[in-house]
Amino acid sequence: MAASTTTHLWRESRIVDAACVRRWLEVAAARIESERHYLTQLDAAIGDADHGINMHRGFSAVLTRLSTLDGVSPGELLTQAGRTFVSIVGGAAGPLYGTAFVQAGQALGADGAFGPKRLLEAIRASLRGVQRVGAAVEGDKTMVDALVPGLAAFEAGVRHGTLEGAVRGARVAAMDGARATVPLQARKGRASYLGPRSVGHQDPGATSTALLFAALEDAVLAQRSHRLPADQPISLGEIYDR
Ligand SMILES: Nc1ncnc2c1ncn2[C@@H]1O[C@H](COP(=O)(O)OP(=O)(O)O)[C@@H](O)[C@H]1O
Ligand SMILES: [Mg+2]
Repeated sequence: MAASTTTHLWRESRIVDAACVRRWLEVAAARIESERHYLTQLDAAIGDADHGINMHRGFSAVLTRLSTLDGVSPGELLTQAGRTFVSIVGGAAGPLYGTAFVQAGQALGADGAFGPKRLLEAIRASLRGVQRVGAAVEGDKTMVDALVPGLAAFEAGVRHGTLEGAVRGARVAAMDGARATVPLQARKGRASYLGPRSVGHQDPGATSTALLFAALEDAVLAQRSHRLPADQPISLGEIYDR
């Protein structure tokens, strides 16, 4: 009985490893590329019409950087992606997303694989980094308005279910959070200069954050459930519990 339960869990468990993080960055880059005009249009309404351009430039540079990084840990991939973002992307998004990725990378440490709990810590660390740099809270009409609900839904998903459920819930909540910025008046960033005229438009940064959560779901679901090789010193179950 116990053995069959374990087998079942192993089949159902998905873990996060360097291949998964790499896939996340690649899918994120592809989603940003296909939505870059939309992101720029959103920024044209309440900013300076460059958010899609900024994000596309950043992720293109990240892809180039990734091609030079073989055999590194998931955390190192994210740290390098974040540093690339900070050095390549100007404006608000560069330092904010760059910090988010670096903080996530640091939270993951040097481990080669982990489960939903460590991913939760990484997303939490990203939010802390964004708020340390940008000092925005929920309701300010920024990327924080997608990140906070995305994180909350991910946490609820981890507590009550699986990694798959957590990433799905996070994507839905982040999308809803982005849409919920429409009636808000911006209190941070360039859009805040518009005052009441910022009302009625969706925040570009919250929208790109929702795209990144969608990419996370894609990357996790694309990860084939697998057992570790027999000579692995740690079981998949142990990794999943991290
Ligand atoms: N202080 C802040 N905290 C969090 N996010 C912010 C802050 N300021 C701006 N943003 C986000 O950055 C997005 C704009 O990014 P982008 O257009 O690339 O940079 P810029 O505003 O410098 O042109 C906004 O839509 C918002 O989500
Ligand atoms: Mg802009």
